[in-house]
Amino acid sequence: MSEIHTTSIATPTRRDFLFVATGAAAAVGTAATVWPFISSLAPDASTIAAGAPVDVDLAPIAIGQIVKVFWRGKLIFVRRRTESEIAEARATPLSELIDPQTDQERVKPGHAEWLIVFGNCTHLGCVPLGHQGPYDGWFCPCHGSLYDTSGRVRRGPAPLNLPIPPYEFLSDTKIQIGQNASG
Ligand code: FES
Repeated sequence: MSEIHTTSIATPTRRDFLFVATGAAAAVGTAATVWPFISSLAPDASTIAAGAPVDVDLAPIAIGQIVKVFWRGKLIFVRRRTESEIAEARATPLSELIDPQTDQERVKPGHAEWLIVFGNCTHLGCVPLGHQGPYDGWFCPCHGSLYDTSGRVRRGPAPLNLPIPPYEFLSDTKIQIGQNASG
């Protein structure tokens, strides 16, 4: 955890702190568009770079929010889906999909609200924008690919769904990315 230090003569009050925190949030955008880094319980940076599993605390993630984490230098989206987003994904006929896969195949049993996917477009690797496009998933601004709320490609040129990284639930509020990963 980082610490807040002040060189001010006056001791900051709780109110001061809240003001500063609010201002910082406002400076980077609204909650809907901010993808905060989730503090992980991971080993140090060099160990992570070598490919160690990364633990992610899910508790701070609000319903409907997407956050990003990195594992082995790769971007991963952790999305806490709303009930309607889950229902939308599950109501989609496989016949409408470019890369047919059920939503159930893409999440862990009993954890339907959590979608964990790699965060680079399967076309040329751009980072798609969350909560955008007609399928409420992601929109890739580079060449227009669209993904749905299950991270499945719905319009190319991307040929494939956003891949699912290897991960497991350690508890209802914690996952470990990279567990049992080979290579
Ligand atoms: S990189 Fe995403 S559409 Fe081309």
